[in-house]
Amino acid sequence: MRNKLARFAENARRRNVVEPGKPIFSEIKGKWHEFFNNSNPIVLELGCGHGEYTVGLASLFADQNFVGVDVKGARIWKGSREAEELNLANVAFLRIRMLDLEERFTENEASSIWITFPDPRPKEKDEKRRLTSPRFMDMYRHLLRPNSCLHLKTDNLELYQYTLETLQQREDIHSLKYTDDLYQSKLYEKPQQIVTTYEKKFASRGVPIKYLRFQFN
Ligand SMILES: C[S@@+](CC[C@H](N)C(=O)[O-])C[C@H]1O[C@@H](n2cnc3c(N)ncnc32)[C@H](O)[C@@H]1O
Repeated sequence: MRNKLARFAENARRRNVVEPGKPIFSEIKGKWHEFFNNSNPIVLELGCGHGEYTVGLASLFADQNFVGVDVKGARIWKGSREAEELNLANVAFLRIRMLDLEERFTENEASSIWITFPDPRPKEKDEKRRLTSPRFMDMYRHLLRPNSCLHLKTDNLELYQYTLETLQQREDIHSLKYTDDLYQSKLYEKPQQIVTTYEKKFASRGVPIKYLRFQFN
């Protein structure tokens, strides 16, 4: 607990953490380009945990901005510290519940989304809480510029299949590509090779990593 409180206190001091209680939190919607001080594309990692994708992609693509989003401050703390240590000015972390994304981003403000190992929420009654359910997809579509790409990585076969089925019913997407064994696939390129905490855990048990991506029209 003390450790957690120390992390929260550090988050409160860090410029790259946007969270409730800071003036920037209520001002940020529609102002992310001003925050980063450039007009580069803004990429979101949803359910970022320790932020491996946010930091990893930011290291690969200096000409893009990356925002890791998660409700857990103690996890975000780790990514925000790494970004500081690596002097990555193109990284921020946003501490919110995902349902509140539209309160912090305006229409077309984002250029791409990565969803990395989201909680599978297997119970039927929890379908609408899955980060790939239709109501979340509708929200992402609103936040993303036309033709933006959404990527999903997961260990969970049921969530992967559920997401594919949901997407195949949509008429507002194109260029859907997917694999149920990413490491053996030609989709396994540099950005897909970044490894998260959950990925490490499941891959070490021999669970194949599933991946899909598509673009909204
Ligand atoms: C299974 S963990 C994956 C973390 C990280 N992406 C990884 O691969 O190691 C899921 C993460 O999503 C976050 N999360 C789940 N539901 C959320 C929600 N509705 N709003 C914000 N964060 C959420 C959790 O706090 C957790 O850090």
